[in-house]
Amino acid sequence: MIGIFDSGLGGLTVVRAVMKQLPEYDIVYFGDTARTPYGTKSRKTVIGYSFENTDFLVRMGAKMIIIACNTASSFATHQLSEAYKLPIFEVITPAIEKALSTTRKYKIGVIGTRATISSNIYEQKIMEQHPEAHVYSSACPLLVPLVEEGWLSKPETRMIVKKYLLPLKGKQIDTLILGCTHYPLLKDIIQHKIGKRVNIIDSSISIASRIKTYIQNSPEIEASLSKNGQSKFYVSDITDQFKLTAQKILKKTIHLEHVIQ
Ligand code: DGL
Repeated sequence: MIGIFDSGLGGLTVVRAVMKQLPEYDIVYFGDTARTPYGTKSRKTVIGYSFENTDFLVRMGAKMIIIACNTASSFATHQLSEAYKLPIFEVITPAIEKALSTTRKYKIGVIGTRATISSNIYEQKIMEQHPEAHVYSSACPLLVPLVEEGWLSKPETRMIVKKYLLPLKGKQIDTLILGCTHYPLLKDIIQHKIGKRVNIIDSSISIASRIKTYIQNSPEIEASLSKNGQSKFYVSDITDQFKLTAQKILKKTIHLEHVIQ
């Protein structure tokens, strides 16, 4: 199984993208809904949670792990990769690769949670590969709760997106990375507010393409993955609102199983 974890349900955008590109592969998902959000927590706490989440997915039979959460990808990738023998993937590098392969001006915007943006990871990784690039970041802490509430096209959401993107508007960026699990659900509003000339990079699609290429080129891992087109979804807390959010993201009803970590 392909193991995917997130701080909550936003990571289902990654599940959605993986299912689209690799429909036959089984997925086991863990959403840490009891402890969400991660975007406001410290590095140490997010690393600790990420270990627990990975342990759970391994126990459930995952043969590879995708850290769907940008905040956990920023803070915990290195530690998880050192500690586990199975392949660990994060969502940041594939989005950066895509951005660098499509930008013409090397003026790149990044939006994410406060934790992701203050970790500076996108800027660091982009500059390592392209020192002349200009990276402009904006933390958008209100967008996660708005998506969780299902306010995907309310006027208030449009107004807040506009306000967050304002600092990036004057920088003549030609590329904008959506550095958070939840933002693909606001892609149309974001595109409208940042302008149609800006190419939006959806990290859920970039990671799914990366995984597809990896699996195609790794026969041993490929053989270890079960292929019944079935997915299992576990969460650390369950409410009616979580069920609704999951349904909205995957556009179908799924069974969320509650597990105590
Ligand atoms: N999953 C988080 C991320 O992609 C967003 C939600 C949270 O703050 O936990 O950064």
